Amino acid sequence: MLSLIKFLKNILFVFPVTLITSPLNKLMLFLSYHNRLIIWVYKNKKRFEYSDFFSWKRDYNKRYHLYEFIKEKFDFEDADLLYLEFGVANGESFNWWTKNLKSNNTFFVGFDTFEGLPENWGAFYEKGDMRAKVPIFNDSRVLFKKGLFQDTLPKFINEQNSQLSSRRKIIHLDADLYSSTIFVLSQLYPYLKSGDIVMFDEFNVPLHEFKAFSEFSQFSYLTFNPVGAVNNFYQVCFEIATKPMT
Ligand SMILES: C[S@@+](CC[C@H](N)C(=O)[O-])C[C@H]1O[C@@H](n2cnc3c(N)ncnc32)[C@H](O)[C@@H]1O
Repeated sequence: MLSLIKFLKNILFVFPVTLITSPLNKLMLFLSYHNRLIIWVYKNKKRFEYSDFFSWKRDYNKRYHLYEFIKEKFDFEDADLLYLEFGVANGESFNWWTKNLKSNNTFFVGFDTFEGLPENWGAFYEKGDMRAKVPIFNDSRVLFKKGLFQDTLPKFINEQNSQLSSRRKIIHLDADLYSSTIFVLSQLYPYLKSGDIVMFDEFNVPLHEFKAFSEFSQFSYLTFNPVGAVNNFYQVCFEIATKPMT
């Protein structure tokens, strides 16, 4: 059997007839991840304590209800936390969290190019879309890191190693793109601890945040416990359960 597979593989190297279907590669990948998303939703939907599935109307305000639920469930209002947001733009979601987490010992760090998306996102958003001015917060707990995550996050990790290791974290992934999301998750892997919160803002986009989540949860061996989801799994929140081998 193995030698037959090897033989077929070699044949395809010499006569790459499958190239005929290559214009369909993107579509096939999309359909594959779309199906994985549906299967994932049907396997996991009952595990979410807070969910609006299924609802016909997408309402962005529902994400604030989800945030409220998270804050109450985990008693976050006066807890000492580290809130990291990847994809800040005008700072709308960031603003909610700074207003609602009250401890003077909670720190908020927002990462963004503030020059817009670094690459096209699907067919509708182009590189440079979502450009915004660095928002101004009169709050000494807030810090923004301007630039590509690929440049700012490794530096931040170097500088804030002990904060990242010792604090309970809320990690808010709102960069839309697969590349940005998988990069952040992989960089933060050594610091992810049981009890940390990981939130996605566009989870149900098959080839972006969902693909990043699927791959990362597979290759990190981490357990992501479902917490809440709104807008048919557009905004989704997990709590990290355990690290492998611990
Ligand atoms: C949807 S917006 C964020 C919206 C914001 N969280 C809110 O709720 O108002 C996505 C942001 O991600 C940023 N972004 C995406 N990939 C990035 C990367 N690799 N490095 C830095 N910023 C990135 C874009 O610049 C954009 O401002």
